[in-house]
Amino acid sequence: MNTFTYYNPTKLIFGKDQVEQLKELVPQYGKKVLLVYGGGSIKRNGLYDEVVSILNSIDAQVHELPGVDPNPRLSSVREGVKICKENDIEFLLAVGGGSVIDCTKAIAAGAKYDGDAWDLVTKKAVAHEALPFGTVLTLAATGSEMNAGSVITNWETQEKYGWGSPVTFPQFSILDPVNTFTVPKNHTVYGMVDMMSHVFEQYFNDATNTPLQDRMCESTLRTVIETAPKLINDLENYELRETILYSGTIALNGMLQMGYRGDWASHNIEHAVSAVYDIPHAGGLAILFPNWMKHNLKVNPARFAQMAERVFDVDPTGKTEEETALEGISKLREFWTSIGAPSSLADYNIDDSKLDIMADKAMANGEFGNFNKLNKEDVLSILRASL
Ligand code: NZQ
Ligand code: ZN
Repeated sequence: MNTFTYYNPTKLIFGKDQVEQLKELVPQYGKKVLLVYGGGSIKRNGLYDEVVSILNSIDAQVHELPGVDPNPRLSSVREGVKICKENDIEFLLAVGGGSVIDCTKAIAAGAKYDGDAWDLVTKKAVAHEALPFGTVLTLAATGSEMNAGSVITNWETQEKYGWGSPVTFPQFSILDPVNTFTVPKNHTVYGMVDMMSHVFEQYFNDATNTPLQDRMCESTLRTVIETAPKLINDLENYELRETILYSGTIALNGMLQMGYRGDWASHNIEHAVSAVYDIPHAGGLAILFPNWMKHNLKVNPARFAQMAERVFDVDPTGKTEEETALEGISKLREFWTSIGAPSSLADYNIDDSKLDIMADKAMANGEFGNFNKLNKEDVLSILRASL
C-alpha cells in the first residue's frame, strides 16, 4: 500500500424524509443563508418548496442563486460570491447535483478570498478559509456531496479545471433516494458511468498489496453493474435508487483510495473535451475510458485481467493476460452501450477538427496520470481512437 492519511469531516445523512433535519442543522451555522440550485428540476419536483418552507420555519433570511448550469460556470461562482459578500451570508445550502455542489464549494471559498475565485480554481491562490455549507443531493454521480473536490468551467477561455481544499468539504449532506426519482434516464445513466469511472480511476494505480481495496472497488463496480439495467427500466424504484445513491458516494468519498494513488488521466482528458464542447461529463467518460484502458493495457496487463475476471466474469482459461484484459474492456464497452451511454465522439457530432486544441488543454499542467504518465501524443491517440 502507499502511505495515506484519511480525513473526511462531512456528516452523511441518508434515507427517506431526512431533509427535515435541515431544521436542526442550518441554525448551527447562522440565519443568513444562500440557497444555490440549478435550472429548475427542484421546482418541478417539489423539493424547492419543501426546503424553502423548512428555512422559513426557522426564520432564515434566504437569498437565492438559481440557474447553476451543468458544468458549472465561473460566472455563477462570481455572482454567488458577490451575493455572499454584499449580504454577509453565513451559510450556503446547495440543493442539486454535482454541478450545484461544485459551484457552491467555489462560492464558499471565494467569499472568504479577496481576489477572483478563478485564482482558487487555477491554483494561483490557496483557499485557507470557506463559508460553511451543506448539501441536499438530487443526483447520484459525482460524490461531490462527500468530498472536497469541485470542477468549474470558465466559458470565456474554454477552460475546465478540478480543484479542492480541506476547507471545501460539506458540513453535511442529506441523501434521500426519493429526491433522485425524477432524474431522467439519460442523467441516471451518466451518473452510473461517472461513479464506475471514479472507481476505475482509483483501481488503476501503482500500489502493491491492496487486496481489500481491490475487493471494495470490485464490489462497488459489480453492484452498479447489477443494479443499472433494472433501474433504467424502473426509475422510481426506491431500493434501486438507494443502492445507486450510496454507490455514488462510496465511489468518491476517499474510502476506496486509502493506500492507492489514483490515475485520473481520463477525467483530465474529459474535462478538456467538455471545456470545448460542453458535453455531459460522464458522456465523455463513457467514450474515453475504454480507449484509455486499451492505450495503457501493456503497463500492467495483470491488473486489467484481474478486472476482467472479477468484475466481468471473463474466463481466463487458455487466454493470455492481454486477451483476458481485452475481453474485459470489450465487456465494459458493451455494458455501457447496453444501458444507453455513448461510445464515440461522433455521438456528440464531434469530429477531428479540434483534437489538437483539446489535447493542449489536457496538457495545460504538463504530463499527467499516475498509473501511466501521458504526453500530448498519448492524449491525441486516445482522442483519435474515440472519434
Ligand atoms: O439544473 P437542474 O434543473 O437541477 O437539472 C439537472 C441537470 O440538468 C438535472 N437534475 C439534477 N437532479 C435532478 C435533475 N433532474 C431531475 N430530477 C433531479 N432530481 O441533471 C442535470 C445534470 O446535473 P449535474 O449536476 O450537472 O450532474 P452531475 O451530478 O453529474 O454533475 C456533473 C458535474 O460534476 C463534475 C463534472 O465535471 C460536472 O461539471 N464533477 C465533479 C466531481 C467532484 N466534485 O468530485 C467529480 C466528477 O468526476 C465530476 O468531474
Ligand atoms: Zn467524474
